[in-house]
Amino acid sequence: MEEAFPPTVPDTGSEWPWNRPPPVPSTHYLDNRIYTDPAVFAREREHIFKQQWKFVCHESELPQPGAYRCVDVADVPLFVVRDEAGELRAFFNICPHRGARLLREVRGQLQGHRLTCFYHHWSFSSSGQAVALPLPQGYQAQAIAAKDIGLRSVRIASRLGLVFVRIEDGARPTSLDEFLGPALDQLAEPIADLEVFHYHRVEIKANWKLFVETNCEGYHELLHLLNRTTALSQREYLKRKWLLHPGGHHTFQPANIAYGKLNLQDRNDGTLPGMSPNMHIVTDVFPDVMINARSTVVRIDSLIPLAPDRTVLECRGLAPRGDSEAQRRLRIRQHNEVWGPMGRNLPEDIWAIETQWPGMARGKLPFSLIAREDDDQATDDSPLRSFYARWEKLTGLRAFDIDAAGLAAQEVAK
Ligand code: FES
Ligand SMILES: [Fe+2]
Repeated sequence: MEEAFPPTVPDTGSEWPWNRPPPVPSTHYLDNRIYTDPAVFAREREHIFKQQWKFVCHESELPQPGAYRCVDVADVPLFVVRDEAGELRAFFNICPHRGARLLREVRGQLQGHRLTCFYHHWSFSSSGQAVALPLPQGYQAQAIAAKDIGLRSVRIASRLGLVFVRIEDGARPTSLDEFLGPALDQLAEPIADLEVFHYHRVEIKANWKLFVETNCEGYHELLHLLNRTTALSQREYLKRKWLLHPGGHHTFQPANIAYGKLNLQDRNDGTLPGMSPNMHIVTDVFPDVMINARSTVVRIDSLIPLAPDRTVLECRGLAPRGDSEAQRRLRIRQHNEVWGPMGRNLPEDIWAIETQWPGMARGKLPFSLIAREDDDQATDDSPLRSFYARWEKLTGLRAFDIDAAGLAAQEVAK
């Protein structure tokens, strides 16, 4: 039998009041049901993932006309494709005839700019127009013809090589530029001309927001041996500030890290444009994109939430186009050994958040704190509070008490 929420256990007086809201402002703690409640998860899908711009891939993954990539957003199967004219397009990966999945490989190349449904062989151009329905005479009586049929399209736009889609317009649709605001400004030079050299995908047993959170608070850097060695050992490191942008995005100010303490040779030769050999910049794009630019390699992490307790994490390693073979080999080694998903920090983060979720489920720990105030420096929880302010605005829920949704939703919407 499931435990009641909140649990009715008497206080001892000396313990942390774990079954009551903490004695801090409501902006400074969370109702942990935001991570576990299926109704909250459904609301996030409808109001955040369908109605906001969602990162799906990098332009370099669609290098030539006809190249496509399948992606699922909020349980909607989509594909993105470069059409015959070289334009990026996005469509539902669903045949308009009887709903079969059109493309079944994760990525590929359309042959002759045609895409043919395996079921009854309706075929479509790379711009989504139906071009042939087999045995068309059977449709004459109902005046159905290929020229009147097309795939359901989805908005698509890109900035600095990052490709985003938006499934629905929602109440206040924004252009991609309005959505991003200044979030990518600090990265404009380093990420302007990159290509993906590594793609990694892993399923995490935790709520998607726990992974986002670990990327927008510096307090947990104590977890990482790497950070204790190269960053926290530097006197000025913790003074590094978070810049909070409108829309729930954040940038962690550029900092110099003692990468020299690791076996990372020759960073001078391959330093990313606009960066120095020891530089690190982090940008979090609401709701689920985390970009780490480190000296010679960029890593972009993004999420596909599957259920309250299941999340797919996608990691991409990126490097400048036009690398020499030796430069690329060196970057790949640095990515593999230290900065990429098989380096040290990512497995530690995943391990940490996978221990959090069961601890929060079914009222075991009803509330958690996001209460640190450190003048927006590394260990401030202000990026978490900024994330949840945006989350509340979009979902109409209150992160400190999901039962307050009714009235609070109306207040937030004003
Ligand atoms: S379902 Fe695709 S052609 Fe019939
Ligand atoms: Fe971390």
